[in-house]
Amino acid sequence: MPDQSERAAELRGLLNRAAHAYYVLDQPILEDPVYDRLYQELVQLESAEPRLRSSDSPTQRVGGAPAEGFTSVDHRIGLLSLDNAFTRGDLLAWHERLLKVLDRPGDTQLPLVGELKIDGNALALSYRNGVLERAATRGDGTRGEEITANVRTISSIPLRLQIDNPPEWVEVRGEAFIPDATFAVINAEREQRGEALFANPRNACAGTLRQLDPKVVAARRLDFFAYTLHLPVDAQPPSQWAALEWLNTAGFRVNPNRELCADLAAIQSFCDHWEQGRHDLPYATDGVVVKLNDLLLQDEAGFTQKAPRWAIALKYPAEEAPTRLLRVGAQVGRTGAVTPVAEFEAVALAGTSVSRATLHNADRIAELDLHLGDTIVVRKAGEIIPEVVRVLPELRPSDATPVQLPQHCPECGSSLVREGDEAATRCVNSSCPAILRGGLRHWVSKGALDVDGLGSKLIEQLVDRGLVGSLADLYRLDAALLASLDRMGDKSATNLVEALEASKKQPWHRQLYGLGIRHIGEVIAKALAAEFFSIDSLAAAALEAPEQIAELHGIGPEISASLGQWLHNPANNQLLQDLRGVGLSLEASAAEQEAASQAGANANGMLQGKTLVLTGTLPNLSRSDAKALIEAAGGKVIGSVSKKTDYLVAGEAAGSKLTKAESLGVTVLSEVDLTAMLEP
Ligand code: IVH
Repeated sequence: MPDQSERAAELRGLLNRAAHAYYVLDQPILEDPVYDRLYQELVQLESAEPRLRSSDSPTQRVGGAPAEGFTSVDHRIGLLSLDNAFTRGDLLAWHERLLKVLDRPGDTQLPLVGELKIDGNALALSYRNGVLERAATRGDGTRGEEITANVRTISSIPLRLQIDNPPEWVEVRGEAFIPDATFAVINAEREQRGEALFANPRNACAGTLRQLDPKVVAARRLDFFAYTLHLPVDAQPPSQWAALEWLNTAGFRVNPNRELCADLAAIQSFCDHWEQGRHDLPYATDGVVVKLNDLLLQDEAGFTQKAPRWAIALKYPAEEAPTRLLRVGAQVGRTGAVTPVAEFEAVALAGTSVSRATLHNADRIAELDLHLGDTIVVRKAGEIIPEVVRVLPELRPSDATPVQLPQHCPECGSSLVREGDEAATRCVNSSCPAILRGGLRHWVSKGALDVDGLGSKLIEQLVDRGLVGSLADLYRLDAALLASLDRMGDKSATNLVEALEASKKQPWHRQLYGLGIRHIGEVIAKALAAEFFSIDSLAAAALEAPEQIAELHGIGPEISASLGQWLHNPANNQLLQDLRGVGLSLEASAAEQEAASQAGANANGMLQGKTLVLTGTLPNLSRSDAKALIEAAGGKVIGSVSKKTDYLVAGEAAGSKLTKAESLGVTVLSEVDLTAMLEP
């Protein structure tokens, strides 16, 4: 581990390079939250040890210098920044401080305005006698760059105010931004021309505003939300809310997602609402700005050195952060696939503490060039499981060693194998306890046998104590034995035995899915179960006429082969026999058979003749399941997007296909859209 002064020097170097890349080159090399955390680390090192604070430290810089090529101009009224709140506690503390300054302690009835914090670039617009005279970037808040010609190309900024007898001068502030869809198109075009991609819409916007050729700016279709109004004192509206109305009337776009809140509680629900809601907006927001509504009270509250006391930005929790890699462990899944897992110093991400993240597979580790002791960037966005985004090699300790993947299963010690061109390494020992536990968890899961009261901890106990060695053993457990286990009582034991008993009545397609055969997800299991009414008829087809299965809609040779392989394994045949022995039917009931024939007769061809492309990771459906669904509805799934594509079904981390679809005007569907379309 480097000593403090070495670490400070490393951080200074990296942060300075990052600031230059961001402000001067418009090509950032660090994600914002990552920059912020590293910056904080440096601030802390320096305040604990002031001799580390050298004059080239980014903590000693105020604002950024204007780039060459534009004239810098003084702002008539300075553009301040906002203080940040990161937690609800910070918000409460701000409110309390505000009430104290206003000498109104305990007054919770002070009207506040909630606005979205648009993640773009602040602009200062000056109007003289109603006509746009000058537009400038924020710069350091006092001086910015004059970019009037560029700003004139933004259609949502009026060149003349749409009001009669405007005041002699009007100053409007707001945020220029690039909507997400436009951003995707811009990057797609840059990719085609072999140019470097913009990291995010805000950087694309900053880069665009600094273009010397206004024609380029016009083509980029920037947008603008106005949020601050300065008028001569006698004309100034009495409140922020009235100012927003004024701006709207004068012809500006004002964000409609604003709220005049009667008290702090209303502001809190506004913040809660947009924490989730922001993901559905067509532009980026990184928080909420809360402003005291009454302008006289704003004056009374005044300013600190850099920010108004009457406003605060509540920033949503960072979803990315740097941390230090401690070791790499491994996790064995139900199919034996071994997933390497990064274990690192705990870090707060999207509101929770995270200390482990998936590394996917050996290829990913090689791609990251991961070393033990590396500073890594980890991400956890929304519901997504944490992952390692990249390594910051500049901060690598000199004695760091490359990460080695385990050669042996961490659970049973058998050698791991990597088959063909598969990315995954696997444990192929069918009695490996990790595989057994995974298989049991899958069997009792919601889409399969749906057994309540049999969680991971209990499964672990059952396997570790040798009480359960196969799926069939579950049905041999008795209540007395279960009641003797940790954290089990008589009641929960009886309930579990009953739940297991009831699960024997689950439909045939759930039993088939529950077996956990590779590539047979819920949808495929349903399709197979509707065609073959028992495991015996399915096995006969799989072993004697696999092409019959492969030809079914959405199935194909890979699934058919996987099924054949599974059935060839004597251990699996034993399992089927055992399951029958304990009372599972492994076949469709008469009613299910009837329903399946009915459904076959009215098969809906909702997607008849349509061509679809899949991209990204869908929240619930696997690739093959989505394909099967589409094909069952008469649609065709192809690999790449063209003008002829009818729909693109896009999931998490969709890449260039999404960009292309958007630029070609192909309708983009989410998983929810797709399943809703296919509902009978
Ligand atoms: S009010 C003194 N309102 O956030 C008032 N700012 O972190 C300062 N921003 O520089 C601005 N949306 O670029 C305000 N609805 C909003 C905003 C907003 C985005 C930006 C603005 C400001 C930065 C402060």
